[in-house]
Amino acid sequence: MSVAGHAFGIDIGGSGVKGGEVDLTTGELVHDRIKIATPQPSTPKAVAETVAKIVAQAGWDGPVGITIPSVVIGGVVRTAANIDKGWVDTDARALFSQALGGREVTVLNDADAAGLAEDRYGAAMEHTGLVMLLTFGTGIGSAVMYNGMLVPNTELGHMDVHGKEAEHRAASSVKERDGLSYHKWAKEVSKVLVALENLFWPNVFVAGGGISRDYEEWIPLLTNRTPVVPATLRNTAGIVGAAMAVSAGIAP
Ligand code: BGC
Repeated sequence: MSVAGHAFGIDIGGSGVKGGEVDLTTGELVHDRIKIATPQPSTPKAVAETVAKIVAQAGWDGPVGITIPSVVIGGVVRTAANIDKGWVDTDARALFSQALGGREVTVLNDADAAGLAEDRYGAAMEHTGLVMLLTFGTGIGSAVMYNGMLVPNTELGHMDVHGKEAEHRAASSVKERDGLSYHKWAKEVSKVLVALENLFWPNVFVAGGGISRDYEEWIPLLTNRTPVVPATLRNTAGIVGAAMAVSAGIAP
């Protein structure tokens, strides 16, 4: 089935592939999201089968937006920092469309999708001008929106910050790996935010990723100058942004 004003989004992450039907008026999921563990290894073929399973389970037959933690240009995956290297140069749009019976599919970067969703329905809804979302997880994802318009495929997590890649300094996986306190980790996050604000001068940063749930523990410790607000859509942002992208014809 497909419903006017609704679209289906799928968010491909390192541990789970999650999907759901989104009401685009409210930015809310119509039913509970469906989650299947990401196949290991996360090869294109295995992930495409998982995506097809989720869409079939939901009984959805309309267009589908899909996120992937990679640079995506013209539907083709160009990088694979934290997923199976077999994705590089894969025409993901063609692959997913075929796995879904030839229907319309949009594929975009995971952080870009989260940024679209937080910008329209979430943390940045009230903010105009330049909104920069950063997702803190295995890596650091980024999305840059100017008055609602996405500049796709920014890869600010790979920016050099004092001799070290931003995501090697301040991803939440680094905090876990090195057993850093919030205090120590927030110092690293601040360095990344200062480097970014000196170059981009955003109006607001939105902090996303799982660790944004504990924002009270660390956002107050940040020492950069631009306001930082926690993401509000949390684990549905990727799904909602993917659904927005396919319905709006945003196809980076
Ligand atoms: C990737 C980005 C992705 C981010 C979050 C980075 O390592 O290069 O494309 O958005 O991780 O998953």
